Amino acid sequence: MNYFRKKPLETSEKPSNLKRELKTMDLILLGLGAIVGTGIFVITGTAAAVTAGPALILSFVIAAFSCILSALCYAEFASRIPVSGGAYSYAYTVFGELLGWLVGWLMICEYLLANASVASGWSGYMNGFLDGIGLGLPIALRSSYNAEAGTYIDLIAILITFVVTYIVIQGAKKALRLNNIMVIVKFALIALFIVVGVFYVKPENWTPFAPFGLKGVASGAAVVFFAFLGFDAVSTAAEETKNPRRDVPRGIIGSLSIATVLYIAVTLVLTGIVPYAQLNVKDPVAFAIRFIGQDFIAGIISVGAIVTLLTVLISMTYGLGRLIYAIGRDGLLPKKLSQVDPKTKSPKFATQIVGVVSAVLAGIVPLNKLAELTNIVTLMIFVIIALGIIKLRKDFGEPKEDEFKVPFVPIFPIVSIIVCMYLMIQLSLSVWIAFVIWLVLGILFYLSYGYKNSELNK
Ligand code: ALA
Repeated sequence: MNYFRKKPLETSEKPSNLKRELKTMDLILLGLGAIVGTGIFVITGTAAAVTAGPALILSFVIAAFSCILSALCYAEFASRIPVSGGAYSYAYTVFGELLGWLVGWLMICEYLLANASVASGWSGYMNGFLDGIGLGLPIALRSSYNAEAGTYIDLIAILITFVVTYIVIQGAKKALRLNNIMVIVKFALIALFIVVGVFYVKPENWTPFAPFGLKGVASGAAVVFFAFLGFDAVSTAAEETKNPRRDVPRGIIGSLSIATVLYIAVTLVLTGIVPYAQLNVKDPVAFAIRFIGQDFIAGIISVGAIVTLLTVLISMTYGLGRLIYAIGRDGLLPKKLSQVDPKTKSPKFATQIVGVVSAVLAGIVPLNKLAELTNIVTLMIFVIIALGIIKLRKDFGEPKEDEFKVPFVPIFPIVSIIVCMYLMIQLSLSVWIAFVIWLVLGILFYLSYGYKNSELNK
């Protein structure tokens, strides 16, 4: 039995059918397209209202710090092992099959949950919009089960997941090409919010600044960590980048830095115009603008958010279908999942499964739980990736001259591990239980299926 057999280190850039034409700026836009979404448009509201108060800006700084450390590790991996599959492939190469599989299994969970979270956030804006035009749904169908609030199921989140799955199966490439335009629309919305909102800021709304204390700031960081996820999407574009060793790290770090500045500005304005306790709504950015009586602008922001969040959903479904396909190709998941539809050339079966599972999650699990679950799983992946850098250096030496190098190894990776674990312990017990169950299922699946069917057996 060898649960730690490894994939060989592939240091060469694979000859690729894809055109190498992306540069730093394209990668930054790609990153921002994946990063800016439900986190800032939806989760900020609840996080300010019940977790951190106006001090949520500090939570954003802590979460950004943690993500930048992880991003450095991703960047070194992306430049030294420029193959697709992201963290799954990195862990497979340095730690062997069992941990590689577990990272892949956690990534599946991360994407499924993130997908469901974005669908759920999307439904928040859509419900707000439908209300605005007098076509609001009955309360029972507006949100996941919460008997007190009278809600039972999030119908819109379920429907949109099915629609997106259908679009992705038909070929998502076209939709993804809209990304750059969507990033600009997202920026325009955020800029509009800041420019209009800033005139209505009442500094007294910022006091008390940290009503939930330091504990609230830390828990807030563990929640809004979600808003930064997606930067690893940049590393998946390595095969299409002109100079990946230089531009991929720049793309990752550039998009994260811009997102951080943007998030802090939005949070300052948001908590400056609405007393934080009233922000527990599903469309806080539009809500804040309605709060100051600018209904028309709030309408624009709602419609804009509805359109742009849709692209985040498309790229998530697209990415997950590909990931499952890649793991299936290595034999660790049933081969049927890596079947490609001859007509559309997309992994149809894998994408359909993704659609159904995400729809169920989005329909019945509340958004904040979905986001917390996404975070715990992702933080675990980040811990493994940071350990992976230490192991990579030990086994394969320092990066070459033209490769990206994490500074101060092992100190930076160790700090990254400590910060990630610190954020993990801020999350609730129910989230930990679900996480452990998922891990155990993953290990059992590997022992009973993956080990026997792995391509490395052949
Ligand atoms: N960062 C992404 C979002 O906030 C996942 O929607």
